[in-house]
Amino acid sequence: MTDRYAVVGNPVAHSLSPQIHTAFARQTGADLVYTRLLAPLDRFAACIAEFRAEGGAGVNVTLPFKLEAWRLATRRSERAEQAQAVNTLRFDGGVVFGDNTDGAGLVRDIEINCAHAIAGRRVLLLGAGGAARGVLLPLIGCRPSALVIANRSIDKALALAQHFSRWGACRACSYAELAANTFDIVINATSASVAGELPPLPAGVFAPGSLAYDMMYGARALPFLQSAQAQGAARGIDGLGMLVEQAAEAFFVWRGVRPQTAPVIAALKEIR
Ligand code: ATR
Repeated sequence: MTDRYAVVGNPVAHSLSPQIHTAFARQTGADLVYTRLLAPLDRFAACIAEFRAEGGAGVNVTLPFKLEAWRLATRRSERAEQAQAVNTLRFDGGVVFGDNTDGAGLVRDIEINCAHAIAGRRVLLLGAGGAARGVLLPLIGCRPSALVIANRSIDKALALAQHFSRWGACRACSYAELAANTFDIVINATSASVAGELPPLPAGVFAPGSLAYDMMYGARALPFLQSAQAQGAARGIDGLGMLVEQAAEAFFVWRGVRPQTAPVIAALKEIR
């Protein structure tokens, strides 16, 4: 029987998830169809109920529904629980299992695809919104020597640092307080680029050999990555690999099979 999956969002037309999961299915011999579902802003739960009633096996959830998906889940993984956001739902009979694979995707992209260790390194996470919260637990799990969350509204960064410091060292600071500190990995989890802006990083934060990572991909990531390299980052990587890795982790959550990501990342790079 053909299993049905979908990505649910608003907007969703731009999503690369159908291409990625169709490639995973071909690679692993899975019999599935994966579509896009545009949910009206006030009908997320109804759309999920309809999809389940039609026999859907699971969905990926994208903006702006990750918090609603978290609420909808009747059982959640620890990483989803702490992220307070769900990007993967699996329908297990009467149970709606919610997971968040974003952080695992980020970590795998940095550590495996970019071959840049996180353990023992100084990591700076820019932003304290949903995107930052979603990756904090897996990042802490990699045991960086320092993990600093910088945000314009310091209160949000302080609240995140306070919440997550029970799992490992992490602290908050303002952008101005970053001056005279250097980092081996700087991750942009802000939405600054959506407005064509850059996070207000002081000069000198990039250590020699450092990695600048933008969780967005394509043209949106370029201003941050170019500016980071101009300020001394050795490498700038966009979030395309994270996108494919979070999808692979979701595929594993649904089907217990871990697809290979390298050929899918390479194919997507070629068409962009
Ligand atoms: P998301 O779900 O994408 O994380 P969000 O929850 O609205 O979206 O959070 C947006 C994040 O980007 C916040 O950390 C925000 O900083 P503030 O909390 O200070 O508003 C950050 N952000 C947005 N525009 C920014 C800019 N121009 N410079 C720095 N940070 C910015």
